[in-house]
Amino acid sequence: MMFKKKRRWHCLSGQEPTELDKKVMYWENKGKEVPTRDLIRTPEEIEGIKRSGIVNTGVLDEVAKQIHAGMNTLEIDKICYDYCVAHGATPACLNYEGYPKSVCTSINEVVCHGIPKEEDVLQEGDIVNVDFTTILDGYFADASRMFIIGKTTPEKEQLVRVAKECLEIGAEAAKPYSFVGDIGHAIQKHAEKYHYGVVRDLCGHGVGLKFHEEPEVLHFGHRGTGMLLVPGMVFTIEPMINMGTWQVFIDEDDEYGWEVITGDEKPSAQWEHTFLMTEHGVEILTH
Ligand code: MF3
Ligand code: CO
Ligand code: CO
Repeated sequence: MMFKKKRRWHCLSGQEPTELDKKVMYWENKGKEVPTRDLIRTPEEIEGIKRSGIVNTGVLDEVAKQIHAGMNTLEIDKICYDYCVAHGATPACLNYEGYPKSVCTSINEVVCHGIPKEEDVLQEGDIVNVDFTTILDGYFADASRMFIIGKTTPEKEQLVRVAKECLEIGAEAAKPYSFVGDIGHAIQKHAEKYHYGVVRDLCGHGVGLKFHEEPEVLHFGHRGTGMLLVPGMVFTIEPMINMGTWQVFIDEDDEYGWEVITGDEKPSAQWEHTFLMTEHGVEILTH
C-alpha cells in the first residue's frame, strides 16, 4: 500500500503558486518543517496585532516611568492592568490557565512567570523582568523588558545587557526562508561566550490570534532545524539567560505552580518582543 504524507502547505485554491508557495513547497519536499497556511497573517490581522503591540508598549513604558525601589510587585500589576483596560484592551495573562494576575514580575533568580505579590518589595540592586501580553480586538501582542532597580553589581548589569543582545542577535538571524533553529543557534552562541546558561524548558512562540501558537521558538540548537520562517508569520523571541546553569525548576513555594527559578538560584534575565517576518527580515511589533 502507498503511504502518502499529508502536506502542511497548501496553495490558495484556484490560484497559481506564488513565489512564496514555491519556496515553501521546495523546503517541504526536502523534508523540512514548514508552517501551515493558517500561520500566515493577513494584512488586516497584521494591522490588528500592531495596534495591540502599541498598547502593550504603552503598558511597559508606564512601568518604566513608575518602577522604583520600595515598590511591591502588586503595584506593578495594578499599573499594567489599569493602563491596559483604559486603552480598551485586556491583559492576556489574567486567568490564563489559572494564572492569577495580569503581568509576570520575575525578580533575580526567578526566570519567568513570577506572580505579583504585596510581599515582593523591590530592593536596590534587584533585576526584574516585567512581561505583559495585551489582547486588543482579539489580537495578541507579547513583550517583556528588564528593569534594574537603582544600581546593581557589574555581574548582574552584564547579564541584563547580554540577554538583550541575545534577543537582538536572534532577531538578526531570523531571515525570511531561514529556520527557527538559526535563531536559537545565534542566541546560544552569544550567551555561551559569557558562560551563561540558555534556558531550554521554555521557549518563544507564534502569537497573534492566540497567546501561544506554532512554532516553538527554541533559544538554543542548530541551524537549519525547526520550522521554516515565512513572510507573514508572527512570533516572539524571548531568551531566558542564566548567570549559571541553564537548568530551572518550579518554585515549591509558589502555591499556583507557575514561578520558574534557576537550578542554582543565580540570577536570570530575559527580554522579549513580538516580531513580524517580512520579505526583508523581522519587524518589531512591540517597540
Ligand atoms: N508572557 C509569557 C510569554 O512570554 C507567558 C506568561 S503566561 C502566564 O509567553 F500565565 F504566566 F502569564
Ligand atoms: Co511574554
Ligand atoms: Co511570549
